[in-house]
Amino acid sequence: MACPMMHDTRPYRSVLYIPASRARAMEKAKGLAVDAIIFDLEDAVAVDEKPAARDLLRETLSTGGFGPRAQIVRINGFDTEWGQADLDTIAAAAPQAILLPKVNGPADIEALAALFEQRPETADTRIWAMMETPAGILNAARIATAPRMAGFVMGTNDLAKDLNARSREAMITALQTCLLAARAHGLICVDGVYNAFKDEEGLAAECRQGRDFGFDGKTLIHPAQIAIANAAFAPSEAELDLARRQIEAFDSAMARGEGVAVVDGKIVENLHVETARATLAKAEAIAMMEAA
Ligand code: COA
Ligand code: MG
Repeated sequence: MACPMMHDTRPYRSVLYIPASRARAMEKAKGLAVDAIIFDLEDAVAVDEKPAARDLLRETLSTGGFGPRAQIVRINGFDTEWGQADLDTIAAAAPQAILLPKVNGPADIEALAALFEQRPETADTRIWAMMETPAGILNAARIATAPRMAGFVMGTNDLAKDLNARSREAMITALQTCLLAARAHGLICVDGVYNAFKDEEGLAAECRQGRDFGFDGKTLIHPAQIAIANAAFAPSEAELDLARRQIEAFDSAMARGEGVAVVDGKIVENLHVETARATLAKAEAIAMMEAA
């Protein structure tokens, strides 16, 4: 089993959903600048297309060609007639993670993890959870510590539906609850989709908000959204420059026997240096991803 304490250091700025029924879209993804792909067998695939999509996805994953992009498969829930067959078919292709929809509590994850234990081919496969039901949000901290958990995906469309919520503001408590749980337990946490996929300004604003909340990236539904998310969730040149100057100034202060430096009129303490180093490491991880 993958080491549960090992943090995932790859970037997840852009996480693109692709319906597993769409061969052409999956092929196209091999050339898209996405950090991760969610191959979807759940809500993006119509009921009568599900068996064919499942088989197509297995063949697509076995053929490969997705390079450094993280591969995540969203299966149907086990309370549907498709969930078990999805897992049976996809497990052999050993994606990086299986994304379980509508997770309500840790028992949902434990049940999936128990199925993994019976399959040696899933030794390195992790579990991600869709956080999209009121019960799931309330149980976020317990879900985060369930076996094999590595990531949360905010399912804001389903959540809005269950809450009768009509705005993003109405979901902020839910978003932050999941972020708190993810950060407390070392999970990746990506924001929900922006439905109006032709509205670039609206997407950019929501990406900035998600970034400022602390999300690792945003789930996307269309290739036109990728560049906007990649830019928003990457450290900017100005942030990198500041990070380097903070580290330098702090090192000089330390050499003088002082514990605090000042950069651009603001204090720099050890904790700021940790953030600065994390910013540089993130940029490095992105550069490695883009060079691969
Ligand atoms: N991933 C990869 N490629 C995609 C894609 C996606 N999610 N969405 C569209 N494309 C491709 C199309 O195949 C097309 O490629 P082509 O020109 O080589 O044929 C190109 O991008 C342009 O697509 P476009 O015509 O603008 O969109 P569309 O009408 O084909 O599809 C959607 C629009 C919204 C139906 C489609 O983007 C989609 O299905 N998105 C994912 C929805 C989803 O997974 N929802 C579940 C989670 S919320
Ligand atoms: Mg959903």
